[in-house]
Amino acid sequence: MQTVGVIGAGQMGAGIAQVAAQAGFHVLLSDVSKDRADAGKAGIAKALDRLVTKEKMTAEACDAALGLIEPVEGLSAMVPAFLVIEAATEREEIKRAIFAEVGKVLASDAILASNTSSIPITRLAQASPDPARFMGVHFFNPVPVMGLIELIRGLATSDATVAAVEAFGRKLGKEIVHANDAPGFIVNRVLMPMLNEACFALGEGVATVRDIDVACQLGLNHPMGPLTLADFIGLDTCLEITRVLFEGTGDPKFRPAPLLVKYVEAGWFGRKTKRGFYDYSGAEPVPTR
Ligand code: CAA
Repeated sequence: MQTVGVIGAGQMGAGIAQVAAQAGFHVLLSDVSKDRADAGKAGIAKALDRLVTKEKMTAEACDAALGLIEPVEGLSAMVPAFLVIEAATEREEIKRAIFAEVGKVLASDAILASNTSSIPITRLAQASPDPARFMGVHFFNPVPVMGLIELIRGLATSDATVAAVEAFGRKLGKEIVHANDAPGFIVNRVLMPMLNEACFALGEGVATVRDIDVACQLGLNHPMGPLTLADFIGLDTCLEITRVLFEGTGDPKFRPAPLLVKYVEAGWFGRKTKRGFYDYSGAEPVPTR
């Protein structure tokens, strides 16, 4: 059985650990503390339980997947992994520190991949033990539901690294797309301008939160309206990625909407802070404008 390491047991890391275990990989799950890694596993147990309740998974398959997830203390436990996926906080200095630490124990042929949604892969690779064995592997939220993985190769990434990570992604049942190391890769290059434009439209008084969302949901057949989706992703994350697009391309078409900037300055990050374009403090989200 192959072992995969997942660093970061938050929403993305736990989702990656879940789908890897469901595909039969032994998963080492780490976070800043063993307690956080344990909490990540507890969340996965709940998600798998729901699948059992809905009769989409047998109790045996649920137990088997959970049994494959091993919360670990510290990064030195990653020794047996053939692939380590970093899904930590989207801050470059944090990722660099992780790569330096895990680099000390990574097997000489093991691959290190980052789930970054916006930091340039070629630059991150410089902090990894071997840029030829480093690449981007971008999952989407909620990981168990979303069918895509974007693979991003840095300038030095080897063909063998891409092939191994692609084979891993296919075993998870995901569709694979390849992107070059350009700002926002593919999905965020296309998505963030839409979310940002919805913020401009709201700020300019074109329509209310509810009407912008209903218009895109029913007029474009999107599962969520853009403001709901921005709240779901996190307005801080949306702003950060929009800034990467703006600064990385130098193109004014990507400039962040002033209203998005204001919301982030107010600490209104969306669902995670219970306030964004909607108020999430009650049973149902309530539009705020
Ligand atoms: N984890 C696991 N399963 C989940 C889930 C979660 N967090 N949220 C929903 N689901 C499952 C539900 O259990 C349900 O499964 P069944 O159909 O098997 O019963 C299914 O998804 C549909 O869920 P719901 O009926 O509760 O609600 P919905 O129909 O509104 O779907 C949604 C929810 C799947 C999140 C859907 O609204 C959607 O696809 N939204 C768009 C999500 C999106 O665009 N994600 C990408 C964000 S960008 C990103 O991640 C990258 C980045 O870098 C920013």
